Parts: sequence; C-alpha cells; structure tokens
Amino acid sequence: MRDQISKLIKEIKETAVTGQEELEKYRLRFISRKGVMNTLFEEMKKVPNEKKKEMGQMLNELKQTAQEKFKTLIVSLEVEKKDTGADFMDLTLPPSSSELGSIHPITQTRNRIVSIFEKIGFNVSEGPEIEDDWHNFSALNFPPNHPAREMQDTFFVEKDPDIALRTHTSSVQVRVMENQKPPIRTLSPGRVFRNEAISARSHCIFHQVEGLYVNENVSFADLKQTIYYFVTEMFGKNTEVRFRPSYFPFTEPSAEVDISCFICGGEGCNICKHSGWVEIMGCGMVDPNVLTNCGIDPEKYTGFAFGMGIERITMLKYQISDIRLFTENDIRFLKQFQRLNY
Ligand code: PHE
Repeated sequence: MRDQISKLIKEIKETAVTGQEELEKYRLRFISRKGVMNTLFEEMKKVPNEKKKEMGQMLNELKQTAQEKFKTLIVSLEVEKKDTGADFMDLTLPPSSSELGSIHPITQTRNRIVSIFEKIGFNVSEGPEIEDDWHNFSALNFPPNHPAREMQDTFFVEKDPDIALRTHTSSVQVRVMENQKPPIRTLSPGRVFRNEAISARSHCIFHQVEGLYVNENVSFADLKQTIYYFVTEMFGKNTEVRFRPSYFPFTEPSAEVDISCFICGGEGCNICKHSGWVEIMGCGMVDPNVLTNCGIDPEKYTGFAFGMGIERITMLKYQISDIRLFTENDIRFLKQFQRLNY
C-alpha cells in the first residue's frame, strides 16, 4: 500500500493539466470520492492496527498533495481564461447606458409658449379635433360663403350638418367662452388640419397655440403689450416687433405680427426673404359678434385674441428649412433637440 501511495503522489506531481477537460479528469481521479482515494480508504480497513497510524499519515499526505495541486490548477486556469477574455464577465463594470428618447421639438416649443403665458395668468384649455361648423366657423363670424369653409381648406368628415377636422384652435376658445364667465385668460394649444399640399413650407397637419383674453376694458394696448412680452421672452430682448393691419373674420381690428429677423439682424437673408422681418402670428380685438355668439355681452366686455403656428415658431428659432422634418421621425433630426434648454 505504501508503494501504491508513493506512486500516486509521484503521478499527481507529474500530471500536466492545461485545460478544463484535463482538470475534470484530474478531479475525478484524485479528488472525487469515487476515485483512487476511495479504493485506498477501503484498503485502509485491511491494514493491521500497528500500521494504521503510518498509513493514515501517508494517505493524508496524498490527499493534501492532490488537493493543493487542484487548487493551484483552478486559479491558474481561471487567470488564463481572463487573459483570453473567453467566458469572462466583469461584474464590476458599470452597465452600458440605455438610449433615452427626447421630447419632440414641437412639444418643447409648445411647453415653452405655455410657460411664458402662464406667468401672466393664462391657463390651458383643450377641445376636440373633430368639430362642428358652429365652433370652427359660424360662432367665429365666418360669413356663410367665406372661402375658408370650402373644400380646399377644410377636411370635412360629414356634410349637412357639417362636421370637419378643426382648421384652427379658435374653436376651443368658442367652447371656453360659451362655458365660462369673464375674466377669461386662456391658451389653446393643439393639432389642426388644413387641406393643403404638403411642401417644405406647409403641411396639412400642424400645431397652433391660440390665446384669448376677455375682460372689462381690454384694449389694443393690452394686446400689444402682451405680444411684446411674449416676443421678448421667446426671441430675446433686442427683437423688434411690428403690427401690420390684416383681416380675420373673428377679430376687428386685426393685425399680423412681424419680428425683426434674428438671423440676419434685419439686413436681409433667405429666412426673411430679404425683408428683414418675419411673420410670427395673427391677432386682433375679438369681434363683438363673436362675443355675442358665445353669450358674452359686448357692451360690457372686450377681448383680444392671437394665434400662432408652433411649427413656424420652431422653424424660425432653430432655422429648420423643411416642415416635413417634424413628422418624419428621423432620429438624426430629433436627437438634435435632446438638450434644448428653452
Ligand atoms: N385663427 C387664426 C388662424 O388660424 C389665427 C388668429 C387667432 C388670428 C386669433 C387672429 C386672432 O390663422
């Protein structure tokens, strides 16, 4: 038995282990309970008592040698694995960051406009995108044969009675005036629809923010001051504003608002078509007929309204040359607005 043990110790020392498979073979032969150890322990039972101590020590030595070599083999093979990178996972590495989305530029501009007007007491009201003739046209003083009611501008859903996709969010303001008493200060942001050919400059679906203020003694001076405040907040202190007389059925007098071109500083460029000015919105004093239509006494109350296209404001502010980019959802475009700090 002594010889057998010495032979095994020698064998252990000489066994070369270079991979996981060989390591497993080694384990089965020298470590596992079913390997050589088992046979030797069985034989131990037959050893006469006076020799038991000596044999026991030898057996222990064999066991230790086998186990120590096994431990070093495990460590060295593990290191090898690390070196080649195979099957190795570094659990201390920070996780790779997942891609975050961003807020769409139209939503960002909408939020910015809303927050500017919230500071001066405007709230936000919403209404349906599918509207009846009354809220989209009639209450707003559109004469029966006004061209804006015709097919080229409006997507009709049903005829007689007319149901259409709203062409502006002024319809929401009619609903607010019908249901609330002055003072009313409200903004209606939302999606609107017009039957226009899609091009770089116009789309059949776009977004507006319209504003309405109705109270006693509201004057055109209040309207101008409100617009000045908005332009300064949105486009900066040095922006100049001009009001050009215009026409809308629901306001009288009406105006269009231009601001000095902030791209060329008024010198003339592509964006302002070399005029030095860019148009940003329509506005005016609410026509007394509209107030009457909505159940508000025009003898007691006056009001102003304004409306702007969110796409247009965003295009001007970020020099975007094609309105279609907003709806194409091209990640390369949207990513540029990830860090906008309005
Ligand atoms: N509703 C008008 C439009 O859609 C904008 C506007 C609103 C003009 C309020 C004047 C007053 O073009």
